[in-house]
Amino acid sequence: MLNELTKEPQKILLITDANVDIEVMIDAVKKSKINCGEINTLFFGPASKEDFPELQLKIETGHPEDVEIPEEAYELIKDTDVLMVHFCPVPGKLIEKAEKLKLIMTNRGGVEHIDVEAATSKNIPVVNCIRNADSVGEFVIGLMIDLTRDITLSHNLLQEGKWKREYYNSSIQKTLGNSKVGLIGMGNIGCVVAKKLLALGVPTMVYDEFVTYESLVKKGLGDLEYTKDLDHLLGTADIVSLHLRYVPATEKWFRLEHFRKMRKDAYFINSARGGILDYEALVEALDQGLIKGAALDVYDREPLGDDYPLLHRENVLLTSHLAGTTLDSIALSPYILARDIDELIEKDVSDRIVNYRKITIE
Ligand SMILES: NC(=O)c1ccc[n+]([C@@H]2O[C@H](COP(=O)([O-])OP(=O)(O)OC[C@H]3O[C@@H](n4cnc5c(N)ncnc54)[C@H](O)[C@@H]3O)[C@@H](O)[C@H]2O)c1
Repeated sequence: MLNELTKEPQKILLITDANVDIEVMIDAVKKSKINCGEINTLFFGPASKEDFPELQLKIETGHPEDVEIPEEAYELIKDTDVLMVHFCPVPGKLIEKAEKLKLIMTNRGGVEHIDVEAATSKNIPVVNCIRNADSVGEFVIGLMIDLTRDITLSHNLLQEGKWKREYYNSSIQKTLGNSKVGLIGMGNIGCVVAKKLLALGVPTMVYDEFVTYESLVKKGLGDLEYTKDLDHLLGTADIVSLHLRYVPATEKWFRLEHFRKMRKDAYFINSARGGILDYEALVEALDQGLIKGAALDVYDREPLGDDYPLLHRENVLLTSHLAGTTLDSIALSPYILARDIDELIEKDVSDRIVNYRKITIE
């Protein structure tokens, strides 16, 4: 897969913008396994980050053809082998002119700025960058430790002048290493959380309707416990963490019946999307003592407002949709993307290619 990029020197075109330093893009691509020949660079959009949001919104809500891109791109693309962009649109009329293009990469997670259909029609793989998976992964582990060890609770009480050493969960407190974590959804983020948990020696069980154990083994996650039985995970795990995408099929996916199947001394975490959880069911589960506590980074309404029913509870830890927001996830995204490309070159992980079901990959 994409192996030919390592053989002959490849002509590279990098198009950056105010958000990502071109030197980082150059360094990342040079450090990747791609055999870099001539590297051309272009700059897209306003010079300053502060002037970017308006353009960004236009790109995120529009079509790749809606925004002008540097004119030189149309000439350079003709004999480019590998194209890397951040926000710069890749419209069909640019792809049309490409005669040798073998790979389109973007440092973003979203691909609405790329005419993926046009790329597919020319059998060109498009690879995006899951740049905040590490950021979310670390945050989730932080939530697990904070929730089970009362870090924020203690901090808040100390600020009120109270020195307290007994909490609602003191009688069941144990280390993560002696707990079992159950992850639901083993996509980009679920896999990162699992990798970090395994590295910390935390027994980890996972459930994903569509991901096979073999694919997890290929990602170096063979040590985790894989189950196709959701009830088994719910009935076993000390901490259940949701990592599903919000799509029509996952609307209010986690409901009261699921909380009923959890252990009464277990914790629940949602850092994915508000839409996948029935929040009324969570309130009921906490009120009825069906679970011990919960940590949330995402909600059914954001911001919460003063009357939010999950505020001011000792056993609920809340953060304001922060999990994915670290600066390095943008500034250093070319390195993350280059690492993914190396993995694509080395291992058979074609599901990282956005249009992989529609193209022929040799
Ligand atoms: N809190 C934040 O700041 C933040 C930041 C980034 C992403 N997210 C969210 O994190 C979530 C996970 O993101 P991702 O990139 O890992 O998504 P992903 O699409 O890579 O993974 C989702 C996984 O869920 C699995 N899945 C889908 N339906 C399922 C079902 N019914 N049962 C079991 N598994 C099912 C899929 O097979 C897939 O493996 C998303 O909801 C995303 O929006 C949150």
